[in-house]
Amino acid sequence: MAKRGLFITFEGTEGSGKTTQAELLAEWLQRRDPVLVREPGGTELSEQIRDVLLYKGLDIDAEAEMYLFMAARRQLIAEVITPALAHGQVVIADRYHDSTLAYQGGGRGVPTVWPSTFPHPDITFLLEGPVEAGLGRHEGAGKSKDRMERESIEFHRKVAEAYGRLAAADPKRFVRLDATGSRDKIHLEVRDRLEPLLEGMMD
Ligand code: TMP
Repeated sequence: MAKRGLFITFEGTEGSGKTTQAELLAEWLQRRDPVLVREPGGTELSEQIRDVLLYKGLDIDAEAEMYLFMAARRQLIAEVITPALAHGQVVIADRYHDSTLAYQGGGRGVPTVWPSTFPHPDITFLLEGPVEAGLGRHEGAGKSKDRMERESIEFHRKVAEAYGRLAAADPKRFVRLDATGSRDKIHLEVRDRLEPLLEGMMD
C-alpha cells in the first residue's frame, strides 16, 4: 500500500485559539518534520488571494468569495498538501475546507460541496467557545479587522452553528474542544487524541 501521511486540521471561529494550537502541535511533532499551513495562504498564489479576500476592501459577491477561498485551497493542495501526504509527512492545516462550509455555507448561505479532488482530513479539531469572546480577544490584541472579522455578530453565530452541525454529522473525524480551557489543557487533549493515529504511522 502507498505510504500516506497524516492530515490534521484545526477549525473554529475568530479568536478561538486554533492558530496557537496548530503551532503548539507542530512544535510537539517537530521530530517528524510536520508541514504547517494556514488558510487561505501557504503558496504565492494563495497568499495573493488571501490579500484580495481580506485586506483590499473589495466588494465581493458571496459565491465569488467561496470560489476564491477554494481556488486558494486548490493551489495549496496541489503544491503542498498532496505532495507532503504522498511522502508520508504529517500535515497540519490552520483552517481547511470546513471553513468554507461554515463561513460561506453557514454564514452566507451559499450552496457548498466538497470537491472530489480535495483530500479529506484524518482528524479535525474544532475549537468551540462563545463567539463574542473570540471577537473581543482579537480587538484586545489591537489588530485591525479584516473583511470577515468586520461581519456582524449574527454572521459569526451562524458560522459557529454551522461548525456544530458539521461536527455532529461527522463525529468520527471531528474532535470538539472547549476553547475556553487553558491553552495547555487543550494542547494535551489534542495530543491524547492524536497518539493512536501517530502510532499507526510509519516512522
Ligand atoms: P484566519 O483569521 O484564521 O487567518 O482566517 C481568515 C478569515 O477567512 C477568517 O475570518 C475565516 C475566513 N475564511 C472563510 O471565510 N472561508 C474559508 O474557506 C477560509 C479558509 C477562511
